[in-house]
Amino acid sequence: MKFRKFLAAGAGAALAFTLAACSGGGAGSETDSTGGGDGGEMTEGGLIGVAMPTETSERWIADGDAVKSGLEAAGYEVDLQFAADDIPTQQQQIDNMITNGADALIVASIDGTTLSGQLAAAAEAGIPIISYDRLINETENVDFYVSFDNFEVGVQQASSLLVGLGVLDKDLNETGDEGPYNIELFAGSPDDNNAGFFFNGAMSVLQPYIDSGVLSVPSGQTAFDQVATLRWLQETAQKRMEDILTATYVGTDTTLDGVLSPYDGLSRGILNALEFTGGYPATIAEGMPIVTGQDAEIASVKLIADDVQFSTIFKDTRKLAEQSVTAAIAYLNGEEPEANNTTDYDNGVKIVPSYLLESDIVYADNIQELLIDSGYWTEDEVASGQAS
Ligand code: BGC
Repeated sequence: MKFRKFLAAGAGAALAFTLAACSGGGAGSETDSTGGGDGGEMTEGGLIGVAMPTETSERWIADGDAVKSGLEAAGYEVDLQFAADDIPTQQQQIDNMITNGADALIVASIDGTTLSGQLAAAAEAGIPIISYDRLINETENVDFYVSFDNFEVGVQQASSLLVGLGVLDKDLNETGDEGPYNIELFAGSPDDNNAGFFFNGAMSVLQPYIDSGVLSVPSGQTAFDQVATLRWLQETAQKRMEDILTATYVGTDTTLDGVLSPYDGLSRGILNALEFTGGYPATIAEGMPIVTGQDAEIASVKLIADDVQFSTIFKDTRKLAEQSVTAAIAYLNGEEPEANNTTDYDNGVKIVPSYLLESDIVYADNIQELLIDSGYWTEDEVASGQAS
């Protein structure tokens, strides 16, 4: 077996986590080989390093918190670090986790190709490495990948754009509306493996409509390299949208109908540009172009409720966190975590076994059902646009 430690406590902790997840607690006493109280309280399960990219986007804060509390509930100690989107900081944080004796690592990378040195050291020490949400590339030293079906996220983004334009209905059937509509395209950070999946998924839906003339992209910028947004920065997207508006739309007869945006932070920058540089009205009903998104960030959920942004993609980070906890515990018990995809995520060195979750399209009329009823956001948070 490849991994360093199979702690007696690990088995009890794993079961405790599973049972706690199923029954809401009170688990584990019959398997508690440590004698250390009930299953949820064990503290000898080991140390797990959790490396998250940034705190500037609320999803990563929620991810970090959910992974930490899931691991702690299962009896593990957690070293949770955020790297302010700075690659050397993330490298150093992972170095420290290894030095401090981490038994497993859960890593959401900033740049998927810059952690090879750290991960080689971790592998050398027998530490299992779980790639969290973003695939770590160009290394054999990544054992498992937990994420959403990222291609499908892109399909959903593009589909929701077509729904907003009127080309598809909400069941994603064609309405017969043939436009033509003018759209512009944005993609995420080129060093994030997910960004290409999102874009390719979206283009698999949009390209046939571009080819048939239902859609056109007046800026002419359709290649990933032209539309990517380094580090997913809102201000970078806003600036690019302003430049496109000034060069192609403002002062002409060309009207923009929709924007493919892969992330809510970018969407907010794009909406600013549309309103203040493009001169579009503040709401969709009045003429604001259809803008998509991702992550169901609270500020954007409010914009959707207020008819400013059209859609976002809800990826339930609680489920992703739970999956990463399950995978980490499996490794620490000497088992292989269960994968549901062993074909799609080639990191350049190997195909990484993956567990992929499903996502949902959020529109104004299903915020209640998807986000409030599920307890992801409260009604007050949606009304105020702020997490409490
Ligand atoms: C995540 C998205 C997120 C983006 C920006 C991607 O890797 O999958 O959910 O919107 O990073 O943080």
